[in-house]
Amino acid sequence: MPTRVVVAGSANMDLVGLAERLPRPGETVLGDDFVMAPGGKGSNQAIAAARAGGTTTFLGAIGSDAFGVTLGSRLTAAGVDTSRVRTSYGTSGVAVIMVDRDGENSILVSPGANRTFTELTDAERAAIADADVLLCQQEIPMSTVHTALRTGRAAGTRTILNAAPARDLPAAMLDEVDLLVVNEIEARAITGAAEPDIAALLALVPRVVLTLSGAGSRYADRDGRDEHVPAYRVEVADTTAAGDAFTGALAVAWGEGRDLVEAVRWANAAGAVCVQKVGASGALPDRSEIEALYNRS
Ligand code: RIB
Repeated sequence: MPTRVVVAGSANMDLVGLAERLPRPGETVLGDDFVMAPGGKGSNQAIAAARAGGTTTFLGAIGSDAFGVTLGSRLTAAGVDTSRVRTSYGTSGVAVIMVDRDGENSILVSPGANRTFTELTDAERAAIADADVLLCQQEIPMSTVHTALRTGRAAGTRTILNAAPARDLPAAMLDEVDLLVVNEIEARAITGAAEPDIAALLALVPRVVLTLSGAGSRYADRDGRDEHVPAYRVEVADTTAAGDAFTGALAVAWGEGRDLVEAVRWANAAGAVCVQKVGASGALPDRSEIEALYNRS
């Protein structure tokens, strides 16, 4: 049975400029190509989960502008159920992204319609309750993230929070999280420690995945497991959405019953396929691409 994944999150149109290097504050840099493509952490993770083999539903809000139409059709084309997506009068979320020659990026998100995704409806709550895994990020109102996680936890749906981008989050929200996925910046923001502190994170949630960019990932849980899962060595074109490819694939693999360290290894492969292409949703791998890299190791 495919994993039933529900993603409650954001959808953005990504405006991506490529350049030799990123501009410093106050500086203008003459860049190279420009790409416009659907993104947003929620939408990306929904597409990632669907391509990885999950039966996926996206809950979120898109604008009544032309971007909203494109965002909705990209999700549908990937096989994501968009029947509960809200359309809100006004602009869609937009992300202005700059990518340098090493594939590193800077991202500014203007939330637009994502801000209107508040007060979950009965139909949205039912979708969460019917799922195997709920996936949330932090580009929508935090009260909605909290309600979605609480709904999932109460229904026995496994809850994953990808605490990206780093924001102040209510401590009580973490009580509803079964698995926390964070990078080093996000880990520091949650614990307030100068370095990622796994013990401090495990005091808040039962399972943690710390993503380490080019160094792979670390999985730790309250049962005493603490394992480093190395990265796949690939040519990096653009790191945008690598975390989304990872998290979407992780949700699917966990729901399929894989051991979590193996699920992290599989998700690392998804992230590694993603970074080889420019852009967000268009770079998210399908299951055969993930399997090909995973089986290469
Ligand atoms: O994680 C990558 C995403 O972050 C981009 O697609 C952009 O929309 C921002 O939300």
